[in-house]
Amino acid sequence: QNPLPFPPNKAPKYQYTNASTGATIDYYEVEVKPFTQQVYPGLKPAQLVGYDGISPGPTFRMEKGREAVVRFINHAEMDISIHLHGSYSRAPFDGWAEDVTKKGQYKDYYYPNHQSARTLWYHDHAIHHTAENAYFGQAGFYILHDPAEDALNLPAGDYDVPLALAAKQYNADGTLFSPASETVSLYGDVIHVNGQPWPYFKVEPRKYRFRFLDTSISRAFKLWFEADGALGKKIPFQMIGSDAGLMTKPVTSDTLEISMAERWEMVFDFSAYAGKNVTLRNNRDVQADEDYNSTDKVMRFVVGKTVTSQQGNGAVPSPLRTVPFPPSKAGVDRTFRFERSNGEWQVNGVTFADVKNRILAKPPRGAVEVWDLVNGGGGWSHPVHIHLIDMQIVSRTGSRPVLPYEKEALKDVVLLGTSETVRVIARYAPWDGVYMFHCHNLIHEDHDMMAAFNVSSLGD
Ligand code: C2O
Ligand code: CU
Repeated sequence: QNPLPFPPNKAPKYQYTNASTGATIDYYEVEVKPFTQQVYPGLKPAQLVGYDGISPGPTFRMEKGREAVVRFINHAEMDISIHLHGSYSRAPFDGWAEDVTKKGQYKDYYYPNHQSARTLWYHDHAIHHTAENAYFGQAGFYILHDPAEDALNLPAGDYDVPLALAAKQYNADGTLFSPASETVSLYGDVIHVNGQPWPYFKVEPRKYRFRFLDTSISRAFKLWFEADGALGKKIPFQMIGSDAGLMTKPVTSDTLEISMAERWEMVFDFSAYAGKNVTLRNNRDVQADEDYNSTDKVMRFVVGKTVTSQQGNGAVPSPLRTVPFPPSKAGVDRTFRFERSNGEWQVNGVTFADVKNRILAKPPRGAVEVWDLVNGGGGWSHPVHIHLIDMQIVSRTGSRPVLPYEKEALKDVVLLGTSETVRVIARYAPWDGVYMFHCHNLIHEDHDMMAAFNVSSLGD
């Protein structure tokens, strides 16, 4: 019964000039502060904390080449740290977990915005409190545009729709259940899109670009669309992009697998469904995730009868772009096991709390490396995120081969399904610095399933 909300676009406060390059820098300010959301009518409101007091936070819409400084001011009780997920930020601005901003303090983050067009998101990364902070509201979209993508004339403006998924759980009084005491996972029985449980969205019978992001702390999705009158029949769509922007070409699919922190973009065509409802569904039994009554439903599209603009409503161009895949390389440079052992969530036997041993790799800057990411078992899946770089999925063992649309994309997070090993290749560039890599099940992350690598122009 409730419409899909859209966070407002964030406007810069003023511009100034980069003293060393002469370039213009946009300056923004974001206040992290408490707010309430009436989720259950007649019960207590949920007490949340969000960027500018909303969740998802305001959407940044950036142009490639235009640098930004964003001041995050902490008015909340909890320590915060901000990670711009998908940006090759310099290490001091990457949201290092222990680099926290306390209540009453602020930190200015510099973002180069020099990558190609892509869907990024900014979210909390504070040591041991990321799950709580992200779940209680600290997550938002940051969309980078560039002229090459604009020239493709994909659906834009009102037809370019960011959709942030989240699964949460409420207390009987209507307040939000806290994941703070969870040590394994919190799957959540209430599916939100852009902060609203099971919303509807009125669309025109034409093409839309959807930018999916899974902000859940523990739930992965396998999504598909069905129309009234054809229940159970999956409607195909065209996958066009992922974490690092557009894929090489559109790939037709009728399901979309998306796990925590992944971004996947598609063009969906409603033209055959004028006057009908199209429901976004989720499979049951995705990985080892727990299901509840309505975790097989996500949202509903109410399709109107008139099209007001033909912008971006033509055939999806193919190819979309030349994706900068790393050169192929034989052999494996490093292997990392993600597993639960001795009651700890570990990466190669260490946890982030093991300060002396947590730097597990020193790739020379510019090196192309092949990493095997191993799920050490136990029945959990682990979406692994490597900061700084974009990676190509080379292979995956187990029952899920590399999916057709995954082959055309560069990623910064990849799901290790239960008992899977995923081989990835990436160039460790462009900067020197110590960066994190970790499981993006935020409960695992907060329990130190996180390590670091040190990119150095000096090498090992
Ligand atoms: Cu989306 Cu290290 O985080
Ligand atoms: Cu994990």
